[in-house]
Amino acid sequence: MYRSNSCGELRASHIGSEVILSGWVHKLRDKGFVAWVDLRDRYGITQLVFDEERTSKELLEQARELGRETVIQAKGQVIERASKNPNIPTGEIEVLVTELTILNTSLLPPFTIEDDTDGGEDIRMKYRYLDIRRNPVKNNLIFRHKVSMEVRKYLSDQGFIDVETPYLIKSTPEGARDFLVPSRMNEGQFYALPQSPQTFKQLLMVGGMDKYFQIVKCFRDEDLRADRQPEFTQIDCEMAFVEQEDILNTFEGLTKHLLKEIKGVDIQEFPRMTYDDAMRLYGNDKPDIRFGMQFGELNAVAQHKDFNVFNTAELVVGIAVPGASEYTRKEIDALIDWVKRPQVGAKGMVYVKCNEDGSYKSSVDKFYDEQDLAKWAEVTGAKPGDLIFVLSGDANVTRAQLSALRMELATRLGLRKPNEFAPLWVVDFPLLELDEETGTYHAMHHPFTSPKPGQLELLETNPGAVKANAYDLVLNGNEIGGGSIRIHDKETQATMFKHLGFTPEEAKAQFGFLMDAFQYGAPPHGGIAFGLDRLVSILGGQETIRDFIAFPKNNSGRDVMIDAPATIDKAQLDELSICLANNK
Ligand code: AMO
Repeated sequence: MYRSNSCGELRASHIGSEVILSGWVHKLRDKGFVAWVDLRDRYGITQLVFDEERTSKELLEQARELGRETVIQAKGQVIERASKNPNIPTGEIEVLVTELTILNTSLLPPFTIEDDTDGGEDIRMKYRYLDIRRNPVKNNLIFRHKVSMEVRKYLSDQGFIDVETPYLIKSTPEGARDFLVPSRMNEGQFYALPQSPQTFKQLLMVGGMDKYFQIVKCFRDEDLRADRQPEFTQIDCEMAFVEQEDILNTFEGLTKHLLKEIKGVDIQEFPRMTYDDAMRLYGNDKPDIRFGMQFGELNAVAQHKDFNVFNTAELVVGIAVPGASEYTRKEIDALIDWVKRPQVGAKGMVYVKCNEDGSYKSSVDKFYDEQDLAKWAEVTGAKPGDLIFVLSGDANVTRAQLSALRMELATRLGLRKPNEFAPLWVVDFPLLELDEETGTYHAMHHPFTSPKPGQLELLETNPGAVKANAYDLVLNGNEIGGGSIRIHDKETQATMFKHLGFTPEEAKAQFGFLMDAFQYGAPPHGGIAFGLDRLVSILGGQETIRDFIAFPKNNSGRDVMIDAPATIDKAQLDELSICLANNK
């Protein structure tokens, strides 16, 4: 038997018991005639004591030699600690060791296994298995486990059936590039790893499964960010015989359940906002509504004066920053520089100080008088003591820039509180999105999303105006889920492919299986997928999903621990009939 108890288990009530513990040497303190070892495992830390007088000199000598992270087994008696440690659950006791076995030695770790480690990101990723021994990482993984168990429990209780779908498939367009897998047995042919199980879950609805879910890996070859990984996990769901309202209610239920069970938060409010309103009020289709600072469109009150920058702009839009009228010139200049960085890309920024005495001071006083500025304050909702920032230019670009500034200011002002939760449904997304570069339309969600009832005809005349039966679930300014009601008849699906630029032959070659299936009594259906990594990290009060993934990829898509991706040898390439272009 390796252990009778874990290292997080023993309390004062165990005093007098004989125990066996196993774990890692966390720390050693040597006082000459007595030495203490903090023994660590997943469950906690227990202090071991080696005492020349009470046990033996040999044991003490042996303990002194223990290096950090050595794996040991210790047998002994639970005794009361002389100096108790109220900061840890085992702090009232220690184990007087009578027998010590070294189970394995350890090299000196390249960083300290402490909550606040001295190891940088790169080294911790290379030795991720050591990083996982640290509480912050370990606790994040345990937290993730709790969330996914609650998800399974809830969905299963609601009648959803967990069905696995294949990973070696044909491309499913979700807007990213596919990861491809060559087939040895089918020369020159490739599988694609699923960007999502979208078509399979729809086929499960045709198959009569009625309610499906799966906690499933998805693969997308796209540029990485804090909230994106090339392989990530979805809580993928689909339901038959449902309308949008049914889906929203079901998954509002799941989200409320998770917030209650995991965070102890009772959310009553579950607002809905149209895509158009989200863009108009927040410049963003995933607004963080934990704080105000809504956009005020100023065209009507700021144009047609002598300020040409505004006169020529498609949109003039501002936000009121609460309590910021006291910002110094230096602080304001720093913010102007911030929006001018290439990542944001504004050309300049106008500001108005709304002084406590009711007067205004702006960077455009030459063009606007107090009355004008009072109107700006009214439109942006600025109160005395606030500061208004105004950007102008192309509508879409300007909204994105002001949205970036709004989020940055909210972070700086401490308005994005990690333990406050504000979910939001964004609904009525456009069906199609215009690719400015190619001038062609592509599906904003995916090509299987149905247009709103009665809007199919609009596809011919004004495709950009067609709204979809699509919705996103936003939590604290992050898109944690997205879904739609699907097209379930062959003709509509064919029309959709036509508008996305597919010839009938291409549509048949790529999605013939789905359109064929629609001919065999496909029920009306719809669904949603949550990003589990995002959901978990936001519930955990953070926004970097890497911290909640056991073995994540770095920003270049590399696993630096196993050193992947990697070249493969010639024999393997030959077997797959792959010839590299530059003969590398
Ligand atoms: P969508 O593409 O919106 O929808 O993806 C659903 C959710 O998955 C998460 N997500 C990601 N998380 C981490 N890294 C990524 N690279 C990444 N990409 C997406 C997001 C997102 O909201 N098949 C549809 C769902 C449906 O229609 O039912 C789909 O995949 O949180």
